[in-house]
Amino acid sequence: MKLTETVQTGDFANEKHVPEVTVQRLDGNKVEVKAAIGTEIAHPNTLEHHISWIKVFFQAEGAKFPVEVASYEFKAHGEGDILSTPIATGVIETEKNGTFYALSYCNIHGLWEGSAELN
Ligand SMILES: [Fe+2]
Repeated sequence: MKLTETVQTGDFANEKHVPEVTVQRLDGNKVEVKAAIGTEIAHPNTLEHHISWIKVFFQAEGAKFPVEVASYEFKAHGEGDILSTPIATGVIETEKNGTFYALSYCNIHGLWEGSAELN
């Protein structure tokens, strides 16, 4: 089996691992992109079970490959009663339309993806 075949997805409203991706055009060519896990159904955040990271990609219309635009690591899962919440927000600049993809990793349940269109 290929690694890509292990990537799971679904509706973030029903599946707590799926990143909810939202995009918003700001002034100029700036675009705010947010990838969040647990917006509808909370995911555990403990040393034993947590979201480790989210990577965000943008594939412009007509482009052959996606471009990695951001990478977020969530490091605190209860140490000192601190929790890193698996929400990633950033700003990129592009004149193009396309698709944002978020790929996330749960240390127990593997890889998950969500996406949103930029129009
Ligand atoms: Fe999980």
